[in-house]
Amino acid sequence: MSKFAALAGLLAVPALAQGLSSLVKLPNTFPNLTACLEQPSFFSCENTTVIENTCCSPTPGGLVLSTQFWDTYTGLEHQGQLLPKNSWTLHGLWPDNCDGSYASYCDYSRQYDPSPGKQPDGSVIPPYKGPSVATFIAEFGRLDLLNFMNKYWINQGGPNDVFWAHEFSKHATCTSTFDVACYGPDYKKHQDLVDFYDAAIRAYKQYPTFDMLATFGIIPSNKTTYKLSQFQNALKSQTGALPYLGCGNNGTVLQEVWYFQHVWGTEQFGHYKNLDSVTNSTCSPTAGIWYHERTSTSERDVRLLP
Ligand SMILES: *[C@@H]1O[C@H](CO)[C@@H](O)[C@H](O)[C@H]1NC(C)=O
Ligand SMILES: *[C@@H]1O[C@H](CO)[C@@H](O)[C@H](O)[C@H]1NC(C)=O
Ligand SMILES: *[C@@H]1O[C@H](CO)[C@@H](O)[C@H](O)[C@H]1NC(C)=O
Ligand SMILES: *[C@@H]1O[C@H](CO)[C@@H](O)[C@H](O)[C@H]1NC(C)=O
Ligand SMILES: *[C@@H]1O[C@H](CO)[C@@H](O)[C@H](O)[C@H]1NC(C)=O
Repeated sequence: MSKFAALAGLLAVPALAQGLSSLVKLPNTFPNLTACLEQPSFFSCENTTVIENTCCSPTPGGLVLSTQFWDTYTGLEHQGQLLPKNSWTLHGLWPDNCDGSYASYCDYSRQYDPSPGKQPDGSVIPPYKGPSVATFIAEFGRLDLLNFMNKYWINQGGPNDVFWAHEFSKHATCTSTFDVACYGPDYKKHQDLVDFYDAAIRAYKQYPTFDMLATFGIIPSNKTTYKLSQFQNALKSQTGALPYLGCGNNGTVLQEVWYFQHVWGTEQFGHYKNLDSVTNSTCSPTAGIWYHERTSTSERDVRLLP
């Protein structure tokens, strides 16, 4: 008998006698997907049936945007806040109502943004003064998550953790599958924050923008420009849909991309379906567009880091 078979034999006895769940403690997943089985199942925004358990599918924000930035500097280089070489950075995971409108800062009891500004109706959102959201992630033992965020979720003109706090407070609080109510009595404070960051990263990893463009010979350059259609064709060829491309400088400098999706199930665990953008590009359809090289001292090769 091999060592492995002997070990498996040892394990099999208690597993059979007591059942698997007493042998290994199964983690609780949130939302409770067993309860979601009792709900009708469909892609978000695609069925007018009222979703009674809003923990099972994002509603009304069922048009999901996975967004990224192409920045050339951070402004906090002197503090070691650098961009990841050969990669766009993560911006966020946003809920849009199925019609293009959206809500922001939906739960002030989970407001961690130090300068949230105002609601569209002019009402003031209470600024946050407590500890960094990074401390909450660390309290869950998720140093792996923090490590990834420090590599790929990079702010410009401010510290990264303030950007993460902003994204959660503005967008995740308006995404029903992250509601505190979805955690039931087992809710541990800030679990929703950790879960949202995991979900945003999972969505981000579906879209390796830098590589998708590079395979079409579209690489950052300060010598040559590209056409909007070149970017669009490259990204559409790998996602099946047209993302939104955002440009500055009167439509001539590429800065961001938004990928649109409907989701089957939850943003945490579900399946995303790519859709064409519902927002017109702000990049010029005719002028040459700069996809700038970064300042060399503003980036680092994060793949070499632990
Ligand atoms: C999840 O939902 C199912 C079905 O409603 C229920 O039986 C189960 O107790 C719930 N689990 C938790 C951890 O709340
Ligand atoms: C919406 O979902 C319900 C319940 O699953 C189903 O009966 C109905 O056919 C669906 N409607 C559409 C338009 O898909
Ligand atoms: C911006 O671009 C438009 C269209 O390409 C052009 O007509 C206009 O002159 C530009 N404005 C500036 C300030 O460069
Ligand atoms: C987007 O552009 C198209 C074609 O130029 C135009 O017909 C449409 O109205 C624009 N949509 C929005 C929301 O601006
Ligand atoms: C390329 O141009 C951008 C925008 O002007 C600038 O910030 C960046 O430093 C330049 N990069 C290199 C490598 O020259």
